[in-house]
Amino acid sequence: NTDDILKDRHIVITAGPTRETIDPVRFFTNRSSGKMGYALAEHAIKSGAKVTLISGPVHLKEPEEAHYVPVETADEMFDEVMKVYQQADVVIKTAAVADYRPKIVYDQKMKKQDGDLSIEMERTKDILKELGARKEHQLLIGFAAETNDVETYARKKLESKNLDMIVANNVKENGAGFGTDTNIVTIYKRSGEKTALPLLTKDEVAEKVLKEIASLL
Ligand code: PMT
Repeated sequence: NTDDILKDRHIVITAGPTRETIDPVRFFTNRSSGKMGYALAEHAIKSGAKVTLISGPVHLKEPEEAHYVPVETADEMFDEVMKVYQQADVVIKTAAVADYRPKIVYDQKMKKQDGDLSIEMERTKDILKELGARKEHQLLIGFAAETNDVETYARKKLESKNLDMIVANNVKENGAGFGTDTNIVTIYKRSGEKTALPLLTKDEVAEKVLKEIASLL
């Protein structure tokens, strides 16, 4: 029974997008609403788990019983995840973390200039990869947002980031991915096992994902 297994476990969930600042009025972000991650948090709490929810900026109500940690940038999310990693039993990385950020952050608003503008970007830290490298007792669950060759890329992330499980969604499919109340996911485990789920609400997806996690604990 999922609840019996998850009860009192410390589950760290990341959700939402990150924001990477350009200047005091502008930033780069992505389409994540936080719905998938918050659904996981709500369900894990209902199952009796101790939940830390590390969230980028979203318009959702924070789950009452979660330890709630708001962040903005990929760097801040990295720091907050690392602070709780030792005490975590499970980490679920639902967040859509920026892979790049502006190399220069301006203190003052950038003024319009004639012609085109290029902004040089540098890589952010890959939080999940670092968690995989530092993994001890924790169960590590990633998400993969893909638009093509979903299985190939998802399995590659599962291996290269040293994960126990990855939840892949094709974000170009109708009813799947960013912003919607539903999702269509396939779960890949380290053992090679693959479970393709039909179109479900994010709440139902959360329940199934937690059930799979419980089976690994
Ligand atoms: O928030 P919603 O609107 O409900 O949408 C849900 C979702 C589409 C955001 C979610 O289902 C999802 O797919 N989340 C992962 C988004 C993503 O960034 O995927 P990715 O394939 O780029 O990254 C793979 C994994 O590495 C993810 O677990 C991500 O959290 C992690 N990552 C990526 C980059 C980085 N610098 N650090 C990371 O930890």
